[in-house]
Amino acid sequence: MSHIIFDDQRIELDEGQTVLSGLLDHHYDIPNSCRSGVCQTCLMQAVDGEIPEIAQVGLKDTLKAQGYFLACSCVPQTPLRVVTTQADVLRCSATVINQTLLSKNVLRLRLKPEHTYEYRAGQYLTVWKTATIGRSYSLASVAELDDFLELHIRRIPNGIVSNWLHDTVKTGDILQIQAATGNCFYIPGSPEQKILLAGTGTGLAPLIGIARDALLQGHTGDIHLIHGATQMDDLYLHQALLDMAMQHHQFHYHTSVLQADHVTPQISTVPLEQQSIDVAVNPADWRIYLCGDVNMINGLKRKLFIAGASMNNIYSDPFVGSVDTNPTNPDTHPNIDIKVEQA
Ligand SMILES: Cc1cc2nc3c(=O)[nH]c(=O)nc-3n(C[C@H](O)[C@H](O)[C@H](O)COP(=O)(O)OP(=O)(O)OC[C@H]3O[C@@H](n4cnc5c(N)ncnc54)[C@H](O)[C@@H]3O)c2cc1C
Ligand code: FES
Repeated sequence: MSHIIFDDQRIELDEGQTVLSGLLDHHYDIPNSCRSGVCQTCLMQAVDGEIPEIAQVGLKDTLKAQGYFLACSCVPQTPLRVVTTQADVLRCSATVINQTLLSKNVLRLRLKPEHTYEYRAGQYLTVWKTATIGRSYSLASVAELDDFLELHIRRIPNGIVSNWLHDTVKTGDILQIQAATGNCFYIPGSPEQKILLAGTGTGLAPLIGIARDALLQGHTGDIHLIHGATQMDDLYLHQALLDMAMQHHQFHYHTSVLQADHVTPQISTVPLEQQSIDVAVNPADWRIYLCGDVNMINGLKRKLFIAGASMNNIYSDPFVGSVDTNPTNPDTHPNIDIKVEQA
């Protein structure tokens, strides 16, 4: 058992309890979403004490050096004095310059950051609705090609942020966004390596970004992108991807539509997992990117590993949803944190 000091209060933590859970139990409105160490909305700073290594996994070295850590994965072994982050240090403003519906449920949002914004296509950023409610969205744009940030937002029934972005946010509005993070991006250096990009729903956003980046950087090996959807309506940017495949002989686009009303050479009903295994024959040397539904990612990772893929070559971004949409509600927030299998 240990304790934290926050806001001059000493807060006792139960055995194995995270800093986030302890603070929520004391009704502090601490930003959080996935509670599994993925989205980074729960960033806090330690000003005294020892931060467990696991609480800084995925953070940039500059943030680590300044004592930043993820409150949802921090179980301190010794007393820790913590403060909330200086929001303006990590966040910046961006103007909405374009909103386009790509399908019934997917909105393309283009943003112009007020300052130079460093990122790699395929990484994700947090969009803040308020000072404490933020959600992660992946970058489909490529810094060297686009003078805007592009996000694809799927409307989630009753979802706080996705519905706000769909219905309330308008062109010209200024949003707060956080620095880009994540390790799902193209790594130059092996231009002939085969690449598999597989994703469901708006998992397409980072995959398109990575494919465009790879092509820009002269990748010559085959790049296979498989987009999984439940219904035909869920496929989006279909024609643009067919065109991309026509323009680049090394780029191959596949679909997996579980409830397709018709099958054509471009529309397949073969499940995404099966197609991935069929496409990535001898996957040992392939570089693999998986984005979207958590269960799909965990299942596919296992299958590809059994088929011979190296875990070191698999990069994934599970789109973990928020655990609790009302973090100050003591009745609804659990004391446990979801864990996502990491590559
Ligand atoms: C690394 C990362 C990258 C992401 N990239 C994208 C992206 O590019 N595009 C995108 O649209 N989303 C993306 N997401 C998901 C996004 O961050 C939000 O979780 C999503 O938009 C829902 O937020 P919300 O506020 O609308 O819903 P909330 O108010 O958070 O949730 C409402 C309810 O729906 C549940 N829920 C949340 N998400 C889902 C889901 N996917 N399916 C079913 N139930 C759900 C919640 O648990 C809650 O019960 C990403 C998530 C992560 C962690
Ligand atoms: S990383 Fe902590 S809530 Fe998502």
